[in-house]
Amino acid sequence: MCQHASPPTPAAEHHCACQQQAGPHPGKRVPAAPELILPEVPFPSLRVIEALGEHGLRQLVAQHHALLRQSAIGHLFAQDAAQFAQLVERVADFVVEACGGAAQYTPAHGHTCMRTRHFPFTIDEAAREVWLTLLWQALADCAAPAAVREEYWAWMEPFSLRMINRRTTKAQPARWGYAEMAARHA
Ligand code: HEM
Repeated sequence: MCQHASPPTPAAEHHCACQQQAGPHPGKRVPAAPELILPEVPFPSLRVIEALGEHGLRQLVAQHHALLRQSAIGHLFAQDAAQFAQLVERVADFVVEACGGAAQYTPAHGHTCMRTRHFPFTIDEAAREVWLTLLWQALADCAAPAAVREEYWAWMEPFSLRMINRRTTKAQPARWGYAEMAARHA
């Protein structure tokens, strides 16, 4: 669990219907508020695959998922080794295709609505934090060049917000900016 999560901005506060007021309030109106803000997701330029190659991207995905398997959210993933290996392959196919490499995911699995594909798995804010923390570690383990790391992170950090399908906090999930992460791990 991240100990350094940024506090939510006031604009991102979630208002619950009670508004801290006891007793009946006939005619009260509770302002509309978004349950989950989903920011823009900038997919990477060709620079990422040019720098890492398809092989490097596959290694990154494999390392990330090897770490996930051993983590506090390891139970979310296929426990059987062969099924887990197939999952890693599917994620790598998706990542390579999304980065501009060979198209192997879409022809085999169809439309890539990742949010929908994650609905069968219970993913809350804390699970996202584990997932992102281990992505940061995998990027370091794979010695990805800093510029590539920043671009990949700028894609995955907002993208991961879209996988949250179970809220366990009222505040908007913390944003994990690249500069803040880099300073924290300097
Ligand atoms: C599949 C968790 C974010 C790409 C999965 C599965 C889980 C999971 C549990 C299914 C595992 C299985 O079938 O054994 C998470 C969590 C995330 C996250 C906790 C963080 C919030 C992402 C992001 C991407 C992604 C940002 C974008 C690249 C995929 C892909 C699959 C997958 C491509 C395979 C989908 C398929 O079956 O075709 N993820 N995920 N995930 N995830 Fe994620």
